[in-house]
Amino acid sequence: MNGRETLNALLAKIAAANTAYHEHDAPEIADAEYDALRREAEAILAAHPEWREDAKALAQVGAKPASGFKKIIHRTPMLSLDNVFDAAEFVEFIARIRRFLGLKGEALEFVAEPKMDGLSISLTYEHRKFARAATRGDGTEGEDVTENILTLQNLPRELPKDAPDFIEIRGEVYMTKADFLALNASQARQFANPRNAAAGSLRQLDASITAKRKLSLFAYAQGESSAPVAKTHWEYLETLKRWGFGVNPLSRRVPENGAEAFQTEIGEARAALPYDIDGVVYKINDLALQSRLGFVGRAPRWAVAWKFPAEKARTILEDIEIQVGRTGALTPRARLQPVNVGGVLVTYATLHNEDEIARKDVRIGDVVELQRAGDVIPQILGVLKRGGGEAFKFPGHCPVCGSLAVRVDDDVVRRCTGGLTCPAQMVERLIHFCSRGAFDIEGMGEKTVREFHEAGLLRGAPDIFALPAHEAEIARREGWGEVSAAKLSAAIASRQRIGLARFIFALGIRRIGENNAKLLARHYGSYAQWKEAMLAAQIIGSDARLELGSISGIGPAIAQDLLAFFAEDHNLATLEGLERAVLVQDEEAAAAIDSPLAGKVMVFTGTLSMARPEAKARAEALGAKVTESVSKKTDYVVVGEDAGSKAKKATELGLTILTEQQFRDLAGL
Ligand code: IVH
Repeated sequence: MNGRETLNALLAKIAAANTAYHEHDAPEIADAEYDALRREAEAILAAHPEWREDAKALAQVGAKPASGFKKIIHRTPMLSLDNVFDAAEFVEFIARIRRFLGLKGEALEFVAEPKMDGLSISLTYEHRKFARAATRGDGTEGEDVTENILTLQNLPRELPKDAPDFIEIRGEVYMTKADFLALNASQARQFANPRNAAAGSLRQLDASITAKRKLSLFAYAQGESSAPVAKTHWEYLETLKRWGFGVNPLSRRVPENGAEAFQTEIGEARAALPYDIDGVVYKINDLALQSRLGFVGRAPRWAVAWKFPAEKARTILEDIEIQVGRTGALTPRARLQPVNVGGVLVTYATLHNEDEIARKDVRIGDVVELQRAGDVIPQILGVLKRGGGEAFKFPGHCPVCGSLAVRVDDDVVRRCTGGLTCPAQMVERLIHFCSRGAFDIEGMGEKTVREFHEAGLLRGAPDIFALPAHEAEIARREGWGEVSAAKLSAAIASRQRIGLARFIFALGIRRIGENNAKLLARHYGSYAQWKEAMLAAQIIGSDARLELGSISGIGPAIAQDLLAFFAEDHNLATLEGLERAVLVQDEEAAAAIDSPLAGKVMVFTGTLSMARPEAKARAEALGAKVTESVSKKTDYVVVGEDAGSKAKKATELGLTILTEQQFRDLAGL
């Protein structure tokens, strides 16, 4: 293909993706793939500006259109579930629960429910009257679909007297397979599957359209409520049924060793069910145990989705592309001849890394087998037939900046050594910096960051805060105007104060995700203290280095990455630039500032009746910092049975020693 043909092919794909996304509510490719197509097209157009006239598909789109629904902030976030794919992973899930709770023999009871393939919904009742409904959205903030939900036949409008004053009930809105087929048969617009049809039907600004679509509802989870409703999840489901909610009739109580049989049973029934499911959700039945287990990241510890096996397909590997990430990692991905895998058109698959390509010996032109499981990126399983290509040679240089790309020690990843001189790394870092969990600057999405970087307006993170000074220039840019430029300036200005954890996360240091950033922020408390400690920790054997090593959850590899970041002059220069532009606010110790444990540095040692992970999670939830080793800075050492050297050292240092009971009293357990 010549450049023009490639461009035309890209534009056709972009146009199709636009239609699928905006008009059919049925995206056919992942956002990242879509962005990659646009990037490729833009690169060709940069070399051939004379073709831009014809590139309407590019001009026509931006990000998602503002949806037009009011936003509702969820009182408690709507979370997702971790997945397991086989019995061994399920056993590991149970083992984790046992370790956390410190359980030995006792069998755990679960409620098993089919995992509905629809969209989750939150239903709020106030004074026993239906008040509002919200979609999950990003988990924190959803769309107000109250009007649309009111068109559902089996939605209870009122709850009986025994229902609490305030209660939020969660469940899944879905469309049956039959209703989906009938809907597609009745109209030109074709939905790809029942889930997209349900989402497209519910998210209608005109609720009279929703009313014509047949949507159903199963309730299965609790949000907030002003009074407890049940002691077990099973009892909760029974209550929901009594209140008139649809509850999946296949739900069942199963002992932990009964899950595998149930999985098989539902797997066999799956094809004949009137609705799509993609696995079974197992939830700890006892709600008191659920609350002790709590959440880790975005998923509960007390539940898991056991997904059905992945769907497989075969296709041709058209190319192996190398992408350069924020930390310089060269990541290969396979471009495929598009193929439908279990209802989704797949055009890209992950190849993980250099060794994986060598191990599978995949070559361009080969027929490969791939699989897609759940929402994960499709994977290539292996080569089915050779296409005559040569063994793939992984580049030794960065495809973007040309710097040497190296593998250090036993790292499987090859990394570009260009650092921030590599445009790819710089852009990825800037995108990360502005992203939701970081500075969260509205309007500074991937597209805008790339645009400003190319235009020379952004050479580093501090430049972001200089953008308002260039507002007039931005307003004159193609696709911008005074209003949007002013909006951007305002969004940037509103983010010049930021919490320490977000700030640390925004820096994009390798292995410092949101959780580790929080740990660091809680430990050091203020930006100044953190920075000072990181600089002091450059010296081997320094107190600061020992302290860093003692932070619970921050292992040696993470510490190494932090130190490496602070060893680079260009990073220090970035920090200085940011210090001039933003105010980093101190981190308040977690949830409970009044808790007696807030801000305390604690060490657990010896055997406690409560398992160590639970004790640690409890203490952290109350604002304590839990470390592994005892030092002068330790406030409390909780000493269990058979405590050894740590207890001794605590006595020597004259620290406050607590028995387990004293700890429980302080923590209110
Ligand atoms: S419980 C905190 N139960 O799966 C746990 N989720 O992958 C809340 N889903 O967003 C979820 N069937 O939309 C739960 N019986 C079921 C479910 C179910 C489908 C969906 C739900 C959730 C997603 C998580």
